[in-house]
Amino acid sequence: MNTVWMTVAAYLIGSISFAVVSSKLFGLADPRTYGSKNPGATNVLRSGNKAAAIATLIGDAFKGWLAVWLAIHFQQRLQIGDATIALVAIAVFLGHLWPVFFRFVGGKGVATAAGVLLGLNVWLGVATLVTWLVVAFAFRYSSLAALVAAVFAPFYYGLLFGVEPQLAAVFLMCVLLVYRHSGNIAKLIAGKESRIGSKSKGKN
Ligand code: G3P
Repeated sequence: MNTVWMTVAAYLIGSISFAVVSSKLFGLADPRTYGSKNPGATNVLRSGNKAAAIATLIGDAFKGWLAVWLAIHFQQRLQIGDATIALVAIAVFLGHLWPVFFRFVGGKGVATAAGVLLGLNVWLGVATLVTWLVVAFAFRYSSLAALVAAVFAPFYYGLLFGVEPQLAAVFLMCVLLVYRHSGNIAKLIAGKESRIGSKSKGKN
């Protein structure tokens, strides 16, 4: 029973789109109407408002971290197993991608995945974030950095903890993240992807 309500609660937490919420709070246009139209920190940055982009990044990462941290923190008391923690991890991520509060139109999941990984284990999160930073600084493509980090994250988990249910969740999350970046992959190949910090071109 705990597994069911915890998974549903994680999905609902994930469904809060901080790109939409922070844009409203900062008096900006809805990020689903400009740039890549993705409700995520990278696209909010295209509005030119760094504070709103940072708020989006922190909010979306925090919800992923919170859901997983709560599940791990209360694991003993609620007598839940690793499979439930894996379900919570994937549920909060699915909430971000297909949010019930926003007609199931969500983001690509980069910040939320980072939060989930940090919640599962701080070193797992740090290793993945360092991977993102190295690629982002080298190439200045947010999407490329996310894609490379997503490829490495399951390997980091396997190296740190071996095969367990959470590894399946991390793997599925990274597969979905890559899938959500199909448009970005096409633009990267075509040399049309916008670099970090460049303003909206009004299309995707
Ligand atoms: O966080 C998503 C990022 O990897 C790409 O975003 O807006 O450039 O499609 P965007």
